[in-house]
Amino acid sequence: MSTTHERLARELETARQRTLLLTDLDEPELLRQHSPLMSPLVWDLAHVGQQEDLWLLRHGDARRAGLLPPAVEALYDAFTHPRAVRDRLPLLPPVEARSFVAEVRGRVLDRIGRAGPDDDPFDVAMVVSHEAQHTETMLQTLGLRVGPPVLGTGGPLPAGRPGVAGTSVPVPAGPFVMGVDAADEPFALDNERGAHVVDVPAFRIGRVPVTNAEYAAFVADGGYDTPGWWSPRGWAHRQEAGLERPLYWGPGGARTRFGVLEDVPPDEPVQHVTFFEAEAYAAWAGARLPTEAEWEKAAAWDPATGRRRRWPWGDGGPTPALANLGGSALRPAPVGAYPAGASAYGVEQAVGDVWEWTSSGFEAYPGFTPMLYADYSAPFFGGDYRVLRGGSWAVDPSILRPSFRNWDHPVRRQVFSGIRLAWDVDEAGA
Ligand SMILES: [Fe+2]
Repeated sequence: MSTTHERLARELETARQRTLLLTDLDEPELLRQHSPLMSPLVWDLAHVGQQEDLWLLRHGDARRAGLLPPAVEALYDAFTHPRAVRDRLPLLPPVEARSFVAEVRGRVLDRIGRAGPDDDPFDVAMVVSHEAQHTETMLQTLGLRVGPPVLGTGGPLPAGRPGVAGTSVPVPAGPFVMGVDAADEPFALDNERGAHVVDVPAFRIGRVPVTNAEYAAFVADGGYDTPGWWSPRGWAHRQEAGLERPLYWGPGGARTRFGVLEDVPPDEPVQHVTFFEAEAYAAWAGARLPTEAEWEKAAAWDPATGRRRRWPWGDGGPTPALANLGGSALRPAPVGAYPAGASAYGVEQAVGDVWEWTSSGFEAYPGFTPMLYADYSAPFFGGDYRVLRGGSWAVDPSILRPSFRNWDHPVRRQVFSGIRLAWDVDEAGA
């Protein structure tokens, strides 16, 4: 087995450990529709196996017989069955779902071990990314679940440092290379490609994400009662959905996190806000949300060398001292916790902690070419989505890059979404 295939086999294993950990629950918990926004956990479990069967054992050819009978396989097509009705489908019971995913995995590892000319490592990496993205989805489901805690309170995190909340760094005007090519990032997904030059006017950007304390000041200042801070659509949604504070916050300064009631930590990045709330907060704070290009330049461009870094801090991969990733913390780290993880421009915590809403819609880059899973990105381009960047604490480091693009409806907030502010500056840098 090549070293690439060995690495991918290990990453498949890591993703599977997470999947099994998050589905190590009683049958009723796995079968329950915890929220109309999310699938029953047992759906995610079998869907992960169904997609792996399709992409790696059948090279995406759905006409070839898979391990499941066609009628059963069809239950796991995300485009056919909306999440809200998946508990009414005749899904595989948990014990059968587990043995199905294990059977698929056994065959896949066997095949990777033989790695023939048709076995493109990209396709394996794509399946790793798919499963790891579903473990984050399952964490969103477990966040919405009501009942006694099943995940604990999370692992340790470094302390923050005072004085960084609310500060910003300048990013001078100039071109940078947005997106990546296969030569540099062979496992980047289709929507991150290809690398192209974008000229970005000067701007300032938050050194760290907006904290709970900062956001609480917006709430206390009547931010949710002042239409002027909101876009017309945002205000309409705020009224219709009855938004008063971030999801999981109570009225008295406490929050529920995976079933645990606790005080809202002031120095932690705010999470579980919609795009509309992020936009309103930014207006109240005299700022705006960054564009996707601004975010990526601030996080990944190195003006001294005139090239991208693979990670904000350099070319070496993430470690627990550089970023909060992987899901075991169950929460973002306090701001200032990762000074060694700063980008060339001084932006901290760009990667990990919270997904950061940008003002950009989800569009194809020039020369877009779909990957094997052709419906991963293309059906969503131009839709009613906003791009989120940087990954959250729940994202596995093996699937993330500064070029990684997530997208969601502007009303969603069960995602681990937060805010980083940006400001216009004139070209003189004032
Ligand atoms: Fe999926």
